[in-house]
Formats: sequence, C-alpha cells, structure tokens
Amino acid sequence: MPLPKSIMAEARQLRQELNEHNYSYYVLDAPSVTDQAYDRLFRRLQQLEQEYPELVSADSPTQRVGSEPASHFESVEHEVAMLSLDNAFDEEEMHAFDRRLRDKLDHQAPLAYCAEPKLDGLAVSLLYVDGELRRAATRGDGRSGENITANARTIDSIPLRLIGDDLPARIEVRGEVYMELAGFAALNESQRENGGKVFANPRNAAAGSLRLLDSRITASRPLTFCSYGIGLIEGAEMASGQYRQMQYLRTIGFPISRQIELLDSIDDCLDYYARILQQRDDLAFDIDGVVFKLDDVQLQRQAGFVSRAPRWAIAYKFPAQEVMTRLLDVDFQVGRTGALTPVARLEPVAVGGVMVSNATLHNMDEIERKDVRIGDVVIVRRAGDVIPEVVGPVLQQRSGDLPRPKMPPRCPVCDSEVMQQPGQAAFRCIGGLVCAAQRKEAIKHYASRKAMDIEGLGDKLVEQMVEQDLIDSVADLYRLSLQQVAGLERMAEKSASNLLQALETGKKTTLSRFIYALGIREVGESTAESLAAYFGDLDQVMNADVDTLQQVEDVGPIVAENIRHFFDQKSNRAIVDQLIESGINWPPIEASQQQQTLAGKTYVISGTLDGYSRDQAASLLKARGARVSGSVSARTTGVITGENPGSKVAKAEALGVDILGQAEFEALLGETV
Ligand code: IVH
Repeated sequence: MPLPKSIMAEARQLRQELNEHNYSYYVLDAPSVTDQAYDRLFRRLQQLEQEYPELVSADSPTQRVGSEPASHFESVEHEVAMLSLDNAFDEEEMHAFDRRLRDKLDHQAPLAYCAEPKLDGLAVSLLYVDGELRRAATRGDGRSGENITANARTIDSIPLRLIGDDLPARIEVRGEVYMELAGFAALNESQRENGGKVFANPRNAAAGSLRLLDSRITASRPLTFCSYGIGLIEGAEMASGQYRQMQYLRTIGFPISRQIELLDSIDDCLDYYARILQQRDDLAFDIDGVVFKLDDVQLQRQAGFVSRAPRWAIAYKFPAQEVMTRLLDVDFQVGRTGALTPVARLEPVAVGGVMVSNATLHNMDEIERKDVRIGDVVIVRRAGDVIPEVVGPVLQQRSGDLPRPKMPPRCPVCDSEVMQQPGQAAFRCIGGLVCAAQRKEAIKHYASRKAMDIEGLGDKLVEQMVEQDLIDSVADLYRLSLQQVAGLERMAEKSASNLLQALETGKKTTLSRFIYALGIREVGESTAESLAAYFGDLDQVMNADVDTLQQVEDVGPIVAENIRHFFDQKSNRAIVDQLIESGINWPPIEASQQQQTLAGKTYVISGTLDGYSRDQAASLLKARGARVSGSVSARTTGVITGENPGSKVAKAEALGVDILGQAEFEALLGETV
C-alpha cells in the first residue's frame, strides 16, 4: 500500500507530541498529559506503524522495547577520553583542592563551582548526530568501552531524538545510568520470586541490567539516566560555564540533576555538601558524594589533567553506606509472633556515618543463599532509614572452614521449643505469652503509635516492667500504681504520673486501633480497619467464623485462621475482657456489611474531592472492600483525583495506572455487582 501523505504527517505529529510529553515527564518533572491520553497517542502511532512498516523510524517512541539478543558487545573508542575523578574525604582536602587550583591558575579571587550529587551508577556516553541517538557506550577503561546502544535505547529518560531546531551536528553527552531505590527493591523482589539473580545494591543492579546481551530484558529493568557533562560538540556555540552548559542540555532534552547549583566559592561548596548530606536519606536513589566542577570552561582547559583525572573537578565523598567488617556471631531475636530473626553481631564499624554493631540477616534462607559463616568478613549496608543488613560475605577473605549459623532448637529467651511451620520460612518459639520476649514485643506493639498510642511508654520502659514482673500482659498496664512506675529506672514521680495519665486518656480509642493493638498475626492496620468497618463491633469480630471473616477485604484463609485462632485462646479472650473492664472504649460505628463491590481493588486518593474529606472518601471505599493506600504502585487499581492532585498522578501515569475523577469515584460508590 502506498504511504499517504496524511498518514506520514499524522505519524510525525504523534511522534512529536509523544516526545514532548516524555520531555515534560522525564526532564521537566512536570507531566503534561494523563496516562490514558498518552496511551491513546502511543497506540495510534503503533497502529500506524503496523499498517505502514516503512513509517517506523529508530527514534520513534515505540522503539524502546529492546531487540534480538546480541552475541557480544562491540568495542568503541571514545573520541574524548572518559576520565575519572579525584576524591576528597574532608574539608581540609577540599580546601587543598581549591588552593591547588587557584595556584595553578594564578587566580586569587574565589573560584565558582558547579555542584551536583555524585550518582552511584555507571557512566555512559551518548552520541547524537543531527539530533538522533547514534551510539551509546560504557566508560570501559576510559579510552574505549562497550557499545550498548540497543540497551540504552530502552531507557525512557534517554532521549532518542533531541528537541529544537538549532541542534549541534554532533554532540556527545555523558551521564550516569542508575536505578532508583524503589525500582531496585521491586526488581529484587521479582528476581527472588522467579529464582533469578538477586542484586546486592542498586549500582550492581544497574550495571548488570545495562550489560545484558538481551536488550528486551534491559527494557524491563527500571533504569534511569541523568546527564552531567558534554564530551564533544560540533556545529553549535557552547556556553562558557559548566552550569550554563547543563541548562542547555536540559533545553535539548536531557535530564539533569535537580540539585544542580552554581556556587561562588569553596566555602559555599562545603555548605552545599552539608545540605546534600542531610537530604541523602530522603532521595529516591543512592548517591555517594558530591561532585564539584570548576564552572569556567576556559579555566578548566587551562587547569588540565593529572593522569586519569581532571585538576578542575573533585568528588567529595560521603561516608560509605557499604563497608566491610567481621561477623563475630549470630544471635536470634524473638519477635512479637515468636519468629526468630538472625541478628549479626559485628565488629563495630561506621556505616553511612553511624556506628553499627548489629545488622539483620533476615532469615535462615537468606543466610544459606548468601552462604554467610561466623567469622567471615562481610559487607554491611545501611541506606536511608532502613536497618543495617549483611549484604554477603567477602569470599576471598575466608580462610579455613568456618561454622554456619544454626537455628537453636530451643528459644534463647524462654527455652520453649522452636518450630518451623510447614510451608513457612520463619522459625518460631512456641512459648507464646510464656516467652518474655514475646510478651515484651506484644506490649510494645500495643503501646505503639499506630496502635493505642500511649505516650511515654517506650520500648525500654516496657522491657523494665516485664523484667521486674510488674506486668505480664497489656491488661496489667491499667493496674500499675504510681509507686510501681515511679520506682523504675529513670522515672521521676512527674513522668510516672504522666504515664498513668496517658494510659487513662488512651482508653478512649477506636475499634480498629484496638483490634490492631491486639497484635494478631498478620493483622496490620489496614486489615484492622477493614474488620472494624465490616463488623462494627468487637464481639462480632471475636465470634465470626472463618468463612465470615473471609468476606472482609484483605482477609484470606490464612489471616482468617489467625484471627479465629487468636480469639479461640482462652488467655487472649481473658485479656480482652480485662481490657474492656478497665474502661477501654470507642465510639460506636455502623457495621457496613456492605456488598464488597470493590474487594481486591486498591485506590490512592490525591487532591481534594468535592463534598468528601479524604478520610470520608477512604472509609467509603474501604466499606466496600477496597484498600486505600498512600502511595501509587503497579498494583494500584486507580488514583482518585480531586482538586489540586499531587505528584501521585504523574507516578500513576508512569505506571499505567487508571486515573479517576470525582464522577468516576461516585460511580464506584454506587456500583453493585
Ligand atoms: S563528572 C571529568 N559528575 O563518578 C569528570 N561524574 O568517579 C568526569 N559520577 O565515572 C565525571 N555522578 O560515573 C561526574 N555528577 C557527576 C557524577 C559523576 C556520578 C561518576 C561517573 C564517573 C565517576 C568518577
């Protein structure tokens, strides 16, 4: 079939629109269409390309899906060497760097620097000819790297075609390919499920994904690109400052760091470092320091290089988030449900700026999979707020036959038997409330913020109370006397009376908090809310049979069994009775026993809905069996948007999650099956 002009024009138009939307999303961080609208354009283009294959061009947004596996990577020579960076580890070294540079340049006044975080991924070079991506390469040894064009093309934030009319004939842009923490976690989860390779950290995951011979697999990996420099440029004037050059890159289609700043002096650099270090744990990706580049490109040239690194740039490193230390022993900690968690006792070591002597080993399966032995040198990782974990042993440093950690046959706390239930990874102490560890954890949980929220009743205090036999169960909390509490360590009379007051006022609660506070296995906040909304009454929950329980959203056969089992225990019933007797109360609620029309669905609410507060909207959805979540993921059924929706909409669009307006929300509430 001949290719009609109108079709050609339509395809061109579609491509341009899609590229512009991509640009708004990836570069400007400001999505310009809804997901559905984007999809519609995308599918129309796909359809045209299918009908008229001669329309397909390499820079079409449809061409990011990867291609047939290659047998190897071609080697590519870098026209301009890809250098590495010198490091600084403290302020003194930063001042020395600045001084050296000013001496070399014979420059007395303060020097201006362009600053960005140092991303922890891998360097790539992207060559564009006449605005089109021609070649992508890894850094390799700096002189030559590997041709990874097929893989780079699958990364959405790498433009296939640049924007603008006045593009350079050739431009080589450099930057980092990395993986955000959320994408990394999701990837490892799915790798674990599918028996694939589990990556030690986001950097390894990014490197492994970018160096796959099958670009179709790379396409499925959550890789991101951020540019940080220009390798070469021909056929266009370039700004004379690094910072301005980066702004230029942004205008032609490249993502640049959100944190990029132009700083007037080395002192401002030190402030910048402190600021970014503070933000480190809140960022969506790992960074391992800050890179400072002399802003003036003319002066950069004058300063030149020493061996493999420029004199005009430096990486001021953060305290490492991964360090090596020795595993001295493995202990087992008993949790609220009796599960025994292996805890690594380590030779103390600073990780991410904090001294660490304990780290989690997750469970026995992980220990076996990683082949961790007592006495090994291990890699310990601490990123963000997550608890430190043992990533794995350093096998090269193992000498001789080291013992494997063993699950103790009896509980280290109460000496009850330890058992593994069939089909479950966890080993548990069967002691229940006989076990002081489980009692402590149950009481800590009861007092915690999302449960009964008893102010002043911290973990240490609970431990003391249990150890001194003041309390055996949560019901005993309400029988404590001022004398007893004031007699505890670090407890003045004033704080003791505050605690009793907090216990008293805390008796006023909600049914869902109370159910959650009981600490029934696998009944989290959201399940507790569903139970409260469905039954409206504690007795009904306690007496419901397994089938009825399963009518409730979130409650499957296992959770239903757990709930039934919990309330079948006389001791648990007795505690609940005592709690109610001591005056725990909540406002009555109407049982929904609504048709669970939205069972199995998960919604996120963003923005203000007309006529409903967020809580109201959420409980209406929950009453119908839906789950309401605070964050968008691939499992979200839809994002309900009102006035002024937030960034969740962008996330939803990126993930292909439906976006619903007020009318669609109301339709959901009215819907029956
Ligand atoms: S500039 C001549 N800027 O760090 C300057 N590098 O240790 C060359 N990196 O190979 C690099 N973030 O992979 C620069 N904002 C940033 C960076 C950055 C991460 C990596 C890059 C480079 C390595 C050098």
